[in-house]
Amino acid sequence: MPTETVYGIAVDAMNADAVRRLFSLKGRPADNPLIVHISDPWQIAQVALELTPIAARLAERFWPGPLTLVLRKRPELPSEVTGGLNTVAVRRPRHPVALSLIGLLGRPVAAPSANRFMRLSATRVEHIDPNVAAGVDMILDGGPCAVGLESTVLDVTEDPPRILRPGGITRGDIQAALGGPLSAKPRSNGRRSPGMYPRHYAPETPLHVVDCLQPGQRGLVFVSPANPGQIKMPLDPVAYASSLYDALHKLDGLRLDAIYVQKPPDSQDWEAVIDRLSKAADGA
Ligand code: TXA
Ligand code: MG
Repeated sequence: MPTETVYGIAVDAMNADAVRRLFSLKGRPADNPLIVHISDPWQIAQVALELTPIAARLAERFWPGPLTLVLRKRPELPSEVTGGLNTVAVRRPRHPVALSLIGLLGRPVAAPSANRFMRLSATRVEHIDPNVAAGVDMILDGGPCAVGLESTVLDVTEDPPRILRPGGITRGDIQAALGGPLSAKPRSNGRRSPGMYPRHYAPETPLHVVDCLQPGQRGLVFVSPANPGQIKMPLDPVAYASSLYDALHKLDGLRLDAIYVQKPPDSQDWEAVIDRLSKAADGA
């Protein structure tokens, strides 16, 4: 199904067999939990124990939209969905097709990005890996995804909340809504968050982030392209995010020796883009 962030592989979150089939289709480790998607706010009560005041405020402000809230899990939700954790990640997407699908099913939908484990997410139907496409019953084409990067995953079981994955809603947006700071950095050592792998979101082609590209190098630039294999990217983080995966899928299809990406500005607005690029980069 299309969402406003990236395409997802949708299964009934209450059906453990379907969830297991999904993990094997993606080649995803069983301990990497899924996001549960809802169409109506009341469905939170089917999967999470409670909506704390902070979570309620954020849901009110940013849903439907690219913010995923990590809450305490209800025991009725199959543990396969949450990789055995006692928390569940919940999001109410903004895309009308996703909302209709979940609404028609009448149950929460577990949906990871529609890519093979560790690979680039799909922001258009054409990006979906053929093996993934062959393993699903149906593909709903909703056109290109507007946001283009995965949702922000925010753990609201901690106080202050902590961003586990930067994404479509920025740290600044969340801090403004809460009127206070978030925990500064992702958990480092100690209790590592599942699904936070150093390499992820990667094209098949090795990717390098550099200050500027040599005239013969192919990749993403902010300046005028020096050859046909250079794609000029917008200097706005929202517009950049929207076209990033499409640009990387195109370059990946050229079977190059390497993709070079001109480093984006080092500012908070670019946090999600910088996160994905550093995880896509070889030897990062
Ligand atoms: O934008 C998105 O979030 C897309 C669309 C399809 O909604 N979905 C997506 O799902 O990116 P996926 O499975 O590719 O990434 C889910 C992320 C992983 O990093 C996972 O570890 C984290 O969410 N996550 C899920 N449940 C969690 C939990 N209970 N605690 C901490 N992290 C969790
Ligand atoms: Mg993913």
